[in-house]
Amino acid sequence: MAEQIPLQDLQASAQSCRRCPLWEGRTNLVFGVGDANARVLVVGEAPGADEDAQGEPFVGRSGQLLTQMLGVAGLSRDQVYIANILKCRPPGNRNPLPEEIEACTPWLREQTRSIDPEYIVTVGNFATQFILKTDMGVTKLRGRIHQAGRFKVYPVFHPAYALRNRNSVLPQLEQDFRLLGELLSQDSVTG
Ligand code: URA
Repeated sequence: MAEQIPLQDLQASAQSCRRCPLWEGRTNLVFGVGDANARVLVVGEAPGADEDAQGEPFVGRSGQLLTQMLGVAGLSRDQVYIANILKCRPPGNRNPLPEEIEACTPWLREQTRSIDPEYIVTVGNFATQFILKTDMGVTKLRGRIHQAGRFKVYPVFHPAYALRNRNSVLPQLEQDFRLLGELLSQDSVTG
């Protein structure tokens, strides 16, 4: 396996990252948070205003829903590791640009190597498409395991999307996290 760099060393290097222009507008780099040996790595899209202000992923409204959904799977925030595709906030929360994803994702790759999780939960289209190297949307891929190398990848809708579509999407998000909880407990018995 490739060399595992301790997360705190990666985070220290990322603080001075200038690989794309997003560093100029950030208040804080949002590297990631949680258990450095987590079984589950959660990957979102990019920091929003709250995350940029606090330097921690998923702490705004989407984050509150994500935390609640992790609870449905029997997981606390401390038990998983949470990161994003982009470590700096895109202006006005616009979508990540392909060149920003290309510049930033070596950090995620190193984080993944360092944590070496069993599961990667990809949150929304950007994370799902990047991790699974696909153009398919999360709607078609969500709620089941896809193998990517040695990782089990489990795509779910983005909580921001569920918040905008409470009646149709939120129940599916909850269902997917319930199943994730079941998969995790089955694997810990048999694996
Ligand atoms: N949305 C994301 O994808 N990531 C965050 O950290 C916050 C909101």
